[in-house]
Amino acid sequence: MRMNNPQLDADGRLKHLLSIEGLPKKILNQILDTAESFVGVAEREVKKVPLLRGKTVCNLFFENSTRTRTTFEIAAKRLSADVISLNVNASSQSKGETILDTINNLIAMHADMFVVRHAQSGAAHFIAQHVPAHIHVINAGDGRHSHPTQGLLDVFTIRKYKPDLHNLRVAIVGDILHSRVARSEIHALTTLGVPEIRVIAPKTLLPTQVEKLGVHVYHDINVGLKDVDVVMMLRLQNERMNGAMLPSVQEYFKTYGLTQERLALAKPDAIVMHPGPMNRGVEIDSSVADGRQSVILPQVTYGIAIRMAVMAILAGGQAGGAQ
Ligand code: CP
Repeated sequence: MRMNNPQLDADGRLKHLLSIEGLPKKILNQILDTAESFVGVAEREVKKVPLLRGKTVCNLFFENSTRTRTTFEIAAKRLSADVISLNVNASSQSKGETILDTINNLIAMHADMFVVRHAQSGAAHFIAQHVPAHIHVINAGDGRHSHPTQGLLDVFTIRKYKPDLHNLRVAIVGDILHSRVARSEIHALTTLGVPEIRVIAPKTLLPTQVEKLGVHVYHDINVGLKDVDVVMMLRLQNERMNGAMLPSVQEYFKTYGLTQERLALAKPDAIVMHPGPMNRGVEIDSSVADGRQSVILPQVTYGIAIRMAVMAILAGGQAGGAQ
């Protein structure tokens, strides 16, 4: 019996992108392969394809963002969509309007797609449950829960530098407990067959029973980084910590910060990733962030192709990608 998956239609096609969890490998590969065809669009003189011409994409960011908001906007424009980025602070939400009333008003203006970031876990799911069938919802990060396009762009970046996913050792380091990015990365890497995922963090920054996600737990970074192919650093999410979980940021850097000496424990060709925003001198040393093994800025660039792919697939126009 097929379980009801709110992200897929009756034919198993992507209807909304709400989380990586529950998405079949076929859909993840469809997004990654479609994104490949969009990478080259950025190198054209006219950086546009007509796949979303006549469609209206609404960016609804109820929480701060630099990379995700901007790259979604660029991606939608490169697909020739009309893009509205609602200024939430200046919208009727600040006058007490419910999120569904805001959404219904935008639907009355013929919006076709919503890109939603919200501090509450489940916000994008909630909206997806209430929109008519022809409207698509993309989760751009909800609370601690999920950040699916970040997980996808991270896997896309890894695939670019390390094409054989079935032969990789990946370490995710830092504040796993509060990180929607870590959760999405773990689900994406697991579904795509990465054999060894390590999480490296103090006990206070790990979810209970994190092993159930299929990861190996390390508390000592000097042990956990040994011979890994990919080092993914995470930001300390101070805004999500309820009370003191760490002695100090200086102490955290001393114990878990990625320095050149620690990076030397990984494989010599290991890549260093970070989803941003990055706190230099807290989770990562500047010399590593800007060093030769860092692929932090390519992650941002590939985020555009991934977001183009997701929107094109949702709109039913991925075939041939960048024609
Ligand atoms: N990685 C990420 O979500 O960054 P922003 O908060 O800047 O969008």
